[in-house]
Amino acid sequence: MKIPVLAVLLFLLVSVNEAKKYGRCELAKILKKAGMDGYYGYSLGNWICMAYYESRFNSRAVGRPNSDGSRDYGIFQINSRWWCSNGKGKTANGCRKSCSKFVDDNISDDITCAKRVVRDPNRMNAWVAWRKYCKGKNLSRWTKGC
Ligand SMILES: *[C@@H]1O[C@H](CO)[C@@H](O)[C@H](O)[C@H]1NC(C)=O
Ligand SMILES: *[C@@H]1O[C@H](CO)[C@@H](O)[C@H](O)[C@H]1NC(C)=O
Repeated sequence: MKIPVLAVLLFLLVSVNEAKKYGRCELAKILKKAGMDGYYGYSLGNWICMAYYESRFNSRAVGRPNSDGSRDYGIFQINSRWWCSNGKGKTANGCRKSCSKFVDDNISDDITCAKRVVRDPNRMNAWVAWRKYCKGKNLSRWTKGC
């Protein structure tokens, strides 16, 4: 009996340690405070919806390698080919950050970088998941009750 219980406890500890999952309203509050509501014309719902479909609100998410070998990091899945450096392969490093900065639990630099990304001509189309699941949709449910 002792071993399974220990194993379960260890598993829970490891899981907790591996993922900081923001709550929907928790994230809404942080993004609003950071001036994301209406940033470049995108309402708060767009950012929450994007973060959900990119990372499921997990600030430590690291995506599987993309076809060009780059990876995506953190709650907004910021790409290492264009926006941050992971020390592997070519990068434009537009946000002048190490990608590791985007997988800690302090998302203030993720927010700064997302603002930089959306200032590019692609705007929010830079996020494939946003284009697929959020663009042009009724986004009221993402901020409901927050
Ligand atoms: C998060 O990081 C920023 C700098 O990137 C810092 O100013 C801020 O105090 C940090 N917040 C917390 C809660 O540690
Ligand atoms: C979006 O959905 C909400 C709740 O379902 C509804 O009240 C609202 O009228 C909708 N807005 C638009 C623009 O369709």
